[in-house]
Amino acid sequence: MTHLIVYDTVEGHTRKIASEISNQITATGKTARLFNAETPIGDLSIADFSSCIIAAPVHQKRHPDAIVDFVRANVDALNEMPSAFVSVSLAAAFPDGADDAREFVDHLLQRTGWTPNAIHYAAGAVHCKEYDYFTEQILRHVVLRGHEDVDLTGDQVFTDWAALNTFVADFLATA
Ligand SMILES: Cc1cc2nc3c(=O)[nH]c(=O)nc-3n(C[C@H](O)[C@H](O)[C@H](O)COP(=O)(O)O)c2cc1C
Repeated sequence: MTHLIVYDTVEGHTRKIASEISNQITATGKTARLFNAETPIGDLSIADFSSCIIAAPVHQKRHPDAIVDFVRANVDALNEMPSAFVSVSLAAAFPDGADDAREFVDHLLQRTGWTPNAIHYAAGAVHCKEYDYFTEQILRHVVLRGHEDVDLTGDQVFTDWAALNTFVADFLATA
């Protein structure tokens, strides 16, 4: 049976995380299907999959509407099958952001009624050369408030890939 990985992304980093999860699954001889929540669901039936991992970034304190909509539309099936949530944020990159990272996830779970079997708080990435002035100011003075030492001159990837791999392996062992 195939494992489903649903993701959304604004800047591209969560797509990399979803691809990493997919590669990890296929490396063990299992099959995986990647699905972008921004695309029409068509005849995708998530109950046909062995498990579902949903990966979503946080922007402006919230996960994307497309993920909220996807979870709401499939919440009964998600709650009946092994499911996991990978929330990607900068809050997760710092110990003092742990409460915020949890709050972003709790908000989504409360809005949708989803009860995933496992949750991973993955630290995201910044790509400052690609941001306009307004976006960079939000990052510097709101998202990274208290972390002015972070170098924003180039790409910074905070994701702990080994921790992600361990999370996925542990989840698959129960799925
Ligand atoms: C405009 C903007 C707003 C963001 N807002 C938040 C936020 O409120 N909290 C947070 O922890 N991270 C925030 N982030 C960090 C993103 O979660 C991080 O960059 C993540 O890797 C983005 O994933 P994506 O590339 O898949 O969109 C923000 C990033 C940007 C560019």
